[in-house]
Amino acid sequence: MKITVITGSARKNGTSNYLADEFIRGAKENGHEIYRFNSAHADVKNCIGCNACGMGTKPCIYKDDFVELKENLLDSDVIVFVTPIYYFGMSSTLKKVIDRFYSIDPQLKEMQNKSILISVQHAPVEAVKEPINAHYQAILSWLNMGNAGIVNAIGIESVEHLKQTEYPKQAYELGKNL
Ligand SMILES: Cc1cc2nc3c(=O)[nH]c(=O)nc-3n(C[C@H](O)[C@H](O)[C@H](O)COP(=O)(O)O)c2cc1C
Repeated sequence: MKITVITGSARKNGTSNYLADEFIRGAKENGHEIYRFNSAHADVKNCIGCNACGMGTKPCIYKDDFVELKENLLDSDVIVFVTPIYYFGMSSTLKKVIDRFYSIDPQLKEMQNKSILISVQHAPVEAVKEPINAHYQAILSWLNMGNAGIVNAIGIESVEHLKQTEYPKQAYELGKNL
């Protein structure tokens, strides 16, 4: 299978990118092809709602890094969203990328892909994960995508701390068992 992994942290050696690495390690061991896109280090303009794309009937006005991501998304079986929790939601750079899905909305709906969510939060409070999970499920429902798994890493202090938890194994096994 082809898998597109979209990460949402500027911290290349941070906690959510560590879980993305573990997911990818498992997926590659299972023979899957990976395309990785770091939303925090990409040139992706904000959707301005100009509707020039007609919500998927014409190309977006912007010719930026989303063009390459789009080609990979439309060729993928699985989309993985990886994000730190920022103010109870996904990072703004990941959201910015998802907003640009607007220009390929009908194509994504037709594909009926599977999707995965990996999030990391500092607060050791289960309830903090609820807004991101609800938002993720709403996006999946809109795009006719099925949920293939969620890893919510909770109460994470650092990468060293994360390595002592079960979350890296959960991310690895999600990839390995796809
Ligand atoms: C702007 C900002 C907002 C944050 N908001 C939350 C939050 O609402 N809840 C929480 O538990 N952690 C919050 N955090 C902590 C991060 O989710 C946490 O440090 C995470 O591990 C960072 O991921 P990274 O290492 O992949 O960058 C926030 C951090 C930043 C920088």
